[in-house]
Amino acid sequence: MAAMLEFDHVHFGYGRAVILPDLSFTIEKGDMVALIGANGAGKSTVSRLCNGLLLPSKGHVRVTGMDTKKVRTSALARKIGFLFQNPDRQICKNTVYDELAFGLQVQGVSEAEQKERVEKALETFHLDPKWEPFTRSRGERQRIALASVLIHEPELIILDEPTTGLDYRECTEIMEYVTALNREKQTTVLMVSHDMELVQSYAKRVLVLSGGQLLGDGPVRQIMKDEQTLHAAKVMPAQIPALALRFGDTFSDVYTVADMVAALEKERG
Ligand SMILES: Nc1ncnc2c1ncn2[C@@H]1O[C@H](COP(=O)(O)OP(=O)(O)OP(=O)(O)O)[C@@H](O)[C@H]1O
Ligand SMILES: [Mg+2]
Repeated sequence: MAAMLEFDHVHFGYGRAVILPDLSFTIEKGDMVALIGANGAGKSTVSRLCNGLLLPSKGHVRVTGMDTKKVRTSALARKIGFLFQNPDRQICKNTVYDELAFGLQVQGVSEAEQKERVEKALETFHLDPKWEPFTRSRGERQRIALASVLIHEPELIILDEPTTGLDYRECTEIMEYVTALNREKQTTVLMVSHDMELVQSYAKRVLVLSGGQLLGDGPVRQIMKDEQTLHAAKVMPAQIPALALRFGDTFSDVYTVADMVAALEKERG
């Protein structure tokens, strides 16, 4: 079976500036992957190559085997739910209800089903159907944009900095929701983030990008303790794993606050 997402020797530049010289990686169905890297590393460029907004100048991007150069973006849009780094780029209607129903209308979903799905999304994301998106806070607009993406129940979700502008509770709620989709529906998730605490808490696998090159690719626990790679990519490690490394071997299994508490209690005897 074809991989959910495949970058096959992708070369891409904006004009003459080469951003991705030669990038290859594969993501299988059901994975939950974080793409991390410093500002300007090329993370958003990678995400825009996934949905056909950008096309590689050499190599191929394939989504469930479909080459983004060969299929229409509408075919890709049926597979991929894409959250832009800036939510305002994808909000276009005057009320939350219309915003959520719009994509379903375009797809020819019946009016009764539209209503049902919109109501479920309103409840899940704590949204009011009458809100005017552009008068709401950044966090609320982020929730509206995310709801309008997830209402389509995409097989692959690409989230570019999904929690920017959200407070801690909003952030947790959204990530728990995405995690549940991953667990229960095998929805594949690729999230771009430079929040290492978030990555540590939610990703299974991490890709480390620096200057358009993949410096690391592995299970989250491995990458979080790979100080050399994180340093080379100019990424700050999450605090607990970083602290555990300082404490030495007896703390080698410590990744979370709960792990740390348990290890310290054991030390104390
Ligand atoms: N439309 C564009 N035209 C020209 N250069 C661009 C364009 N978009 C991005 N770039 C450049 O490409 C490089 C990679 O940008 P990209 O947005 O992919 O990085 P990023 O990792 O998402 O960064 P950030 O963490 O700031 O969101 C940067 O040097 C950026 O200045
Ligand atoms: Mg970006």
